[in-house]
Amino acid sequence: MDNPFIFRAYKSKELFCDRQEELKKLLTNALSGADTTLIAQRRIGKTGLIFRLFDEIKTEKKPIIPIYVDIFATRSLDDLVRTLSEAIMTALPEKSSIGKKFSKFIKSLRPIITYDPLTSMPQIQLTLQNDVERQQTLKGLLTFLDSQNEKVLLAIDEFQQIREYPETNVEAMLRTIIQNLNNVSFLYCGSKRHMMLDIFSGERNPFYRSTEFLTLQKLDPIVYSDFIESHFKKAGINIEHDATDYILDWTQRHTYFTQRLCHTVFDMAKKKVDVDLVKKAAVEILQADSAVFGQYHQLLTAGQWNLLIAIAKEGTVSKITSRQFLLKYHLGNPSSVLRTLTSLIEKNIVDENVVEGNSIYSLNDIFLSRWLEEKY
Ligand SMILES: Nc1ncnc2c1ncn2[C@@H]1O[C@H](COP(=O)(O)OP(=O)(O)OP(=O)(O)O)[C@@H](O)[C@H]1O
Ligand SMILES: [Mg+2]
Repeated sequence: MDNPFIFRAYKSKELFCDRQEELKKLLTNALSGADTTLIAQRRIGKTGLIFRLFDEIKTEKKPIIPIYVDIFATRSLDDLVRTLSEAIMTALPEKSSIGKKFSKFIKSLRPIITYDPLTSMPQIQLTLQNDVERQQTLKGLLTFLDSQNEKVLLAIDEFQQIREYPETNVEAMLRTIIQNLNNVSFLYCGSKRHMMLDIFSGERNPFYRSTEFLTLQKLDPIVYSDFIESHFKKAGINIEHDATDYILDWTQRHTYFTQRLCHTVFDMAKKKVDVDLVKKAAVEILQADSAVFGQYHQLLTAGQWNLLIAIAKEGTVSKITSRQFLLKYHLGNPSSVLRTLTSLIEKNIVDENVVEGNSIYSLNDIFLSRWLEEKY
């Protein structure tokens, strides 16, 4: 039997736990044409949820054409235009009438189209001379989608990346184009919370209040433990409750890490799983990752490293400048700790998660957190 605990790309509804509420919301919005901003910590399941939504749209035959574009690797407007055209080409079936129309449209831009030998994904090279041409092409792509008499959902993953482009006014330009579309709705997704919030709720910014916010929290503990236990059971393996609890606790119920630990436990399991086996699997994972963890030490300043260890030892920290926390770990004065904290958040090593208005800090990598906790 294949390992049911995936920690890479989305596979199927059966291997995806819950998110029913969020799914319903996203589906309703896509059908009504409302735009959504999806924000959550890294590796909690944003991209997975997008693919779960696309799966639902397809299997339930909802009248929406879903298109996914990940702009994480884009560095400029030029990249954006290219990546978007590749995404559209990938999403539209080549032989469908809309696919043919798109092909024609793209060809009018005189591109060089090649196919990746490994993935057979299209790679499009456009020779756009200047910003005006790039903007026109972007507008052309989106207007093309808008004029197909079918609803389109364009999910843009890692949307905050547009803030890294050297061109100015990208947001305003995009917003102007998007405002004039009737049949395309958007799902903007990102993990850099501050940036995403600024883009969509900064009063002076073009996307101000143009979308509905959806935040993904951790999966419900009861639902998640049922999910885990049922998949072990299906494979004829009996997992003790204590062992499931241990898994959820040790990984702080952070989806990627929980999935990975479950995956390793599943590989090691024969007929039954108890806490001891889970502990063995955890040791195995930390050993495998320890070479990478060691490198952090060289990349960080002493202050950053010490704060990292302190947060790791606490697991989560809500009052980061409290006297008690600072004294316990000899961290120095509050303002310098705040500066260090900001730098660790910017480096994506520490996560800020806001629960009911309060910021809670933890390490982005739960395994690194457990490793530091044990080693120091
Ligand atoms: N509800 C779920 N049930 C089971 N597995 C899940 C669920 N959500 C996510 N996963 C799995 O957890 C892993 C991390 O999820 P995903 O990549 O979607 O996170 P993300 O929030 O997009 O992360 P990043 O910010 O790094 O892009 C993936 O392998 C995904 O398949
Ligand atoms: Mg993602």
